[in-house]
Amino acid sequence: MTLEEKLGQLTQLGAGQPEFSAAVGLVGSVLYTTGAAETNELQRATLAKSRLEIPILFGFDVIHGYRTIFPIPLAMASTWDPALGELAAHIAATEARAAGIRWTFAPMVDIARDPRWGRIAEGAGEDPFLGAAMAAAYVRGFQGNDLSAPDSVLACAKHYAAYGAAEGGRDYGPVEMSEATLREVYLPPFHAAVDAGTGTLMAAFNSLNRVPATANRHLLDDILRREWKFRGFVVSDYAGVTEMIDHGIAATPQEAARKAITAGLDMAMWDNSFATLAQEVRAGRLPESVVDQAVRRVLRAKFRVGLFADPYTDETRAAAVTLTKEHRDAARRIAQRSMILLKNEGALLPLPKSGKTIAVVGPFADSKADMLGPWSGSGKPEETVSVMEGIRSVTAVSQAMESADLIVAVLGEEREISGEAASRASLDLPDDQQRLLQSLIASGKPVVLVVMSGRPLTISWAAEHVAAIVQAWFLGSEGGNAIADVLFGTINPSGKLPVTVPRTVGQVPIYYAHLPSGRPANPGDKYTNKYADTPIGPLYPFGFGLSYTRFEYSNLKLSAPSMTMNDRLTVSAEIRNAGNRAGEEIVQFYINDPVASVSRPVKELKGFQRVALAPGEVKRVEFTVTRQQLEFWSDRGWLAEPGRFNIWIGPNSVDGLQGSFELLH
Ligand code: NOJ
Repeated sequence: MTLEEKLGQLTQLGAGQPEFSAAVGLVGSVLYTTGAAETNELQRATLAKSRLEIPILFGFDVIHGYRTIFPIPLAMASTWDPALGELAAHIAATEARAAGIRWTFAPMVDIARDPRWGRIAEGAGEDPFLGAAMAAAYVRGFQGNDLSAPDSVLACAKHYAAYGAAEGGRDYGPVEMSEATLREVYLPPFHAAVDAGTGTLMAAFNSLNRVPATANRHLLDDILRREWKFRGFVVSDYAGVTEMIDHGIAATPQEAARKAITAGLDMAMWDNSFATLAQEVRAGRLPESVVDQAVRRVLRAKFRVGLFADPYTDETRAAAVTLTKEHRDAARRIAQRSMILLKNEGALLPLPKSGKTIAVVGPFADSKADMLGPWSGSGKPEETVSVMEGIRSVTAVSQAMESADLIVAVLGEEREISGEAASRASLDLPDDQQRLLQSLIASGKPVVLVVMSGRPLTISWAAEHVAAIVQAWFLGSEGGNAIADVLFGTINPSGKLPVTVPRTVGQVPIYYAHLPSGRPANPGDKYTNKYADTPIGPLYPFGFGLSYTRFEYSNLKLSAPSMTMNDRLTVSAEIRNAGNRAGEEIVQFYINDPVASVSRPVKELKGFQRVALAPGEVKRVEFTVTRQQLEFWSDRGWLAEPGRFNIWIGPNSVDGLQGSFELLH
């Protein structure tokens, strides 16, 4: 290959960019072109001009569905059911692949502990353990067992790394954090994605400890390639290489490109910066072997997805595999399990299917576009079920509030203020919606609040005054049907919060796995770790979610009082459905290391299981403790220290049965 041919393989452009037209046949990857006919046409033009007949790798943001849209990833994490995430990703891959796409820029696996950051919607929330489980599931779902199969696409774990920790929650902002926090909190989902075989990663926009992730050797080389043995390739984010100029670590695109590829970046998205590397090589500032290594990684991925065997897409396939009944059913099933019942005073829910007139009000009551969420692939509003439509398919709906017996208020945020470049300094309901809610409550009629949002909102007033609250996020194509299923009790809600809900934005960052203070928060003592003007603790804790039935936890058992470093231990408890409806409970397992050589989080999730229980049924749920779960990042690498550990099995991060065991040398 000539140097220009090599650099072309390391370049990703949009087909509409002038730089692309000038280099057809050279450019290795194209983003945003979709459709079997469209991608085939571009592929044909490329192969006709490519001396070595190297096909284009088409990439697209298939984040939570391609045409059948699934709940946003934050909602899918609320299912605490990785198998559902895997199913959604597999369906998305099937539809996307039929539209000529071979590579998705997903999963987004950024841990987010700051809901001001709009992209919290795209990930699995605040917890590394839940995040890692979802990350691995998405990778398996997208890639399947054979990357060249017609229902597989190459995955891209992003945004590597620590993008979710942007200062002030402002998107694209800098990140400074300790190596321990990076390793224990922000990296585990990436490591899980790599272990699950993700073919690619995307470097994040942010700087990490003053070095942009795009050119961060510690991330791209030390950790990713040397420690984790990643063999795929890394793409920059959109213009991430030239943005290094604004980060202040390069004066020209050429210098930025050299620094990025030298640090371990393989492909530049959008800015065509890698084309300038020819001069760097010729001037002797960049060994050509560095370019060769990146080219090898990219070409290997192209072989793995089967592009050399068949660069085209069957143009008849999409019609048969897109937005099928089976896909819609799956979207509905997942959406049903993504909702979280936050409050249900006086058992207002489930609503009766007949005999009452219901008014469905609020700006999102009949919105289809918002239901799709911030990344809607090729999803179409007209193929989406609104809340109003979902409810109307069950019972008669009155538009006039005056004549209604009950009100369902669908409030929250529009999809445009969630997702990328949608950071918010307030997490309240917008003023007009808050006023509307207050007037509904003033009417004296029972009100059910359905919150549609891409982030937890500070609904403190509602939590006090509204009888029933369902956190619905953005649920995708079948959202309205799924919401009706839950409101009318066809489905018993079972989702749990993958993120803490603050009372007020001033509490942010607030997350359950925080480090202890020498003066733990105490309402009776002024000089403790709290605010003077806000109650201690969140509005709703991580892991919280109610059901139409009640679950009781009892009989905590440990298989032994202690374990050695190479041993295992099992911890179990009985969960009983104490109500008169069948239901599913997400049972959670937490640990804490109360005395160690460094301060450890007050609690850390180390296991969870979704169990189905008939009324009166009891099941013993078991978790295994291994040394790995007890380790933390120290100056000497991962380390578990002997001593006592606390454990909890419970329904959320606050309640539960507590026990302890001893870790021996
Ligand atoms: C920028 C976003 O940060 C990234 O997530 C996305 O994949 C690219 N744009 C491509 O659309």
